[in-house]
Amino acid sequence: MRVIVTGSSGLIGSAAVRHWDALGDEVIGIDNDMRATFFGPDGSTKWNQSRLEQETSNFRTVSLDIRDRDGVLDLFKNEPPDLVVHCAAQPSHDKAAAIPFLDFEVNANGTLNLLEGTRQHAPEAVFCHMSTNKVYGDAPNELPLDELETRWEYAREEDYDGISESCRIDQTMHSLFGASKTAADVLAQEYGKYFGLKTGVFRGGCLTG
Ligand SMILES: NC(=O)c1ccc[n+]([C@@H]2O[C@H](COP(=O)([O-])OP(=O)(O)OC[C@H]3O[C@@H](n4cnc5c(N)ncnc54)[C@H](O)[C@@H]3O)[C@@H](O)[C@H]2O)c1
Repeated sequence: MRVIVTGSSGLIGSAAVRHWDALGDEVIGIDNDMRATFFGPDGSTKWNQSRLEQETSNFRTVSLDIRDRDGVLDLFKNEPPDLVVHCAAQPSHDKAAAIPFLDFEVNANGTLNLLEGTRQHAPEAVFCHMSTNKVYGDAPNELPLDELETRWEYAREEDYDGISESCRIDQTMHSLFGASKTAADVLAQEYGKYFGLKTGVFRGGCLTG
């Protein structure tokens, strides 16, 4: 099968590339090293791209900006995927406040371009969207806690395994990053509910490599 991984040179995208390459799938990565634009030269993920290209057997990177609507639609038309793993993003809460237009264009509009590419050219594909727990903003801070000797613990057993997806995402402070990611999260859900695409939304917490 053919897998498109966006943000393929980043932390999560590169792990996804390795996973599907090892299974023998064709993997196309989309990454334009925009991390270097967000965070300066030290933020570049080019080194990871080179490493991946050496370590994998059926993977290549396309230097495409997910904000480039025509470029995204062309890629999906010419090489329709069976699976999309969407990890490209402006990933920083603090940075978003300094670059609100760029943050929203990458996180929200970029996601819309990919969802439309999927709807128009690969409607049977599975679309995995990497979202974030920031969609809940600070609402989880309202959950009751117990103070133990060395730590705080959730007071209700139902919270032990993490924040429920029924936690509200409205009327809470998200950070601008959380707001752009919420727009993308809701879009991915809507393409599933309205158009019947096979979208899945994964609200990660703190993921480290
Ligand atoms: N790492 C975490 O702790 C964590 C937690 C929760 C959610 N997430 C989400 O997972 C996803 C991936 O996070 P990560 O930690 O791997 O980020 P990362 O910054 O390591 O990787 C993102 C990659 O996307 C690329 N990219 C950015 N904008 C692009 C654009 N316009 N076009 C093409 N490529 C672009 C960057 O160059 C970078 O290589 C994000 O959506 C993030 O919000 C991450």
